[in-house]
Amino acid sequence: MRIRDAGIEELPEIQRIENSCFGEERYPTDVLAAMIEEEGFETFLAEDEEIMGSATVNYRDELVAAQLVSIAVLPRFRGRGIARALLTEAEARVRKRGADRMVLQVSVTNVAAINLYLHQEYVLQGVIGDYYGPGKDAYFMEKAL
Ligand SMILES: CC(C)(COP(=O)(O)OP(=O)(O)OC[C@H]1O[C@@H](n2cnc3c(N)ncnc32)[C@H](O)[C@@H]1OP(=O)(O)O)[C@@H](O)C(=O)NCCC(=O)NCCS
Repeated sequence: MRIRDAGIEELPEIQRIENSCFGEERYPTDVLAAMIEEEGFETFLAEDEEIMGSATVNYRDELVAAQLVSIAVLPRFRGRGIARALLTEAEARVRKRGADRMVLQVSVTNVAAINLYLHQEYVLQGVIGDYYGPGKDAYFMEKAL
């Protein structure tokens, strides 16, 4: 498996991953494009014969922490450690740019993602009520890098 930067030409593929991994919370195309091209964002892909998953981080010097904006693995490739590898890559990328902590939000019902973060030493900091819409709370998690 390789992990490499995403290019804007891969926007349709990233949109496909987004559509198959997220429901109403999925990002629209213009936001996904900004996450590939805008300064401060890095979007990267895990691929083998084909693209299997993607992740996005956001960090600029003026931010107090880096943020894991998105991480997703296509259903047929799950359970093989791909998200763990993408998360490790996300941490290495922002650490290289000077970040000393990573923050993220995750739905309180997303057991797979919560386990992923807990197993990678993220600490639960609190609950954000209605983060994903009415009645849809998120955990706020953080890791010192
Ligand atoms: C969450 C997600 C990214 C995990 O991807 P994955 O490649 O299957 O995860 P990995 O194989 O790297 O597993 C890493 C850890 O995640 C946890 N995990 C993954 N799938 C799980 C599941 N179905 N149930 C419980 N824990 C799970 C495990 O703790 C695992 O660690 P372990 O092997 O040490 O037990 C994937 O399920 C996904 O894309 N979901 C939809 C998008 C999403 O919810 N993204 C997170 C938004 S905050």
